[in-house]
Amino acid sequence: MAKVELQRLWKRYGDIVAVEDFSLVAEDGEFIVFVGPSGCGKTTTMRIIAGLEVASEGRVLFDDKDVTDELPSNRDVAMVFQNYALFPHLNVFSNMAFGMRLRKRPKAEIEERIKRTAQILGIENILQRRPRELSGGQRQRVALGRAIVREPRVFLMDEPLSNLDAALRMEMRAEIIKLQERLAVTTFYVTHDQVEALSMGDRIVVMRNGRVQQIGSPTELYDQPQNAYVASFIGSPPMNFLHGRVEGDSVALPEERTALAFNGAARAALTRAEGGEVTIGIRPEHIIFSDRPAESGLLSIVGTVDTVEPLGHTTLVRAKMASNKRLSVLINGKARLHEGETVYATFPPNRLYLFEHKSERALLGIVE
Ligand SMILES: Nc1ncnc2c1ncn2[C@@H]1O[C@H](COP(=O)(O)OP(=O)(O)O)[C@@H](O)[C@H]1O
Ligand SMILES: [Mg+2]
Repeated sequence: MAKVELQRLWKRYGDIVAVEDFSLVAEDGEFIVFVGPSGCGKTTTMRIIAGLEVASEGRVLFDDKDVTDELPSNRDVAMVFQNYALFPHLNVFSNMAFGMRLRKRPKAEIEERIKRTAQILGIENILQRRPRELSGGQRQRVALGRAIVREPRVFLMDEPLSNLDAALRMEMRAEIIKLQERLAVTTFYVTHDQVEALSMGDRIVVMRNGRVQQIGSPTELYDQPQNAYVASFIGSPPMNFLHGRVEGDSVALPEERTALAFNGAARAALTRAEGGEVTIGIRPEHIIFSDRPAESGLLSIVGTVDTVEPLGHTTLVRAKMASNKRLSVLINGKARLHEGETVYATFPPNRLYLFEHKSERALLGIVE
């Protein structure tokens, strides 16, 4: 178990900058999730922490000790990969024992640790089987088990659940959270799935093109995204965006042939928008439909119902606005709405996000 510090890490492959100026301090026992689209530098950063990749610049510290030049074997980290990387010719027991045998641990200790770990993961009855005789979920458990038996200082998990079907993924997600809490090993977990990130991480690092966009708790990322990219990436369905021009206390939305008048914190934020162009953000779950324009103090925009998708406990409605762009609205329960119906989408002022259009920088987040 260790505090892990990444200091201004860079990784270049020729002209490609895979990781750009990445800094982070993970506290002992913390669960950190790296999330972002494919190619944004998640795996490269993990491999630098593991010592499998050498950073072009920057340092890695474990408990304040510089390990930048240490070999992976001296860092005491255990990695779980997306493809499990089990030895096909070894049975489950030997797969799990492999690392400890290399380190010449006593036989009794190896057996004891494997027994205990197998119990935690519910794989005691498959220890004699080979990987090809296992289901995807079982293989995943074995890969986790192999990492756990080593009792490492740091866990690195790179998209460990992406080969599993949805139901199993949910189950394993919950198991990993429980396990990590119980073992209290500092963990870095990579995923491209924002739902997985929000549900698992103590803190989440949102990445894009090798650059950290924001580091924060799930609530911080949802309530106070630092830019429009984070705002669009966190939350499902994604936040709606409306592009407009600041005109005094209002934002003119020429495409929608309307203007929205702001007051309070949002009005103050408008004055901070450089160049006077802003993007208004509103999450689908915060919009309220009404059959008439909003009363004073509230903002609304007119649209016609385009599609209605029942999702079980919620309904996703898409309304077509004057510009022909669609607004996603998430309604609790069933929606008694029909295609072509006129609706007024009302935006509660304390649920609005505001971004500088060009820089995508946040000017305002949710005010509780
Ligand atoms: N060994 C390598 N040689 C050249 N480019 C690489 C290498 N490994 C990764 N990259 C590039 O670095 C970037 C980040 O890759 P990676 O860390 O694997 O992203 P992610 O895990 O987020 O999908 C990508 O543009 C990828 O093509
Ligand atoms: Mg990757």
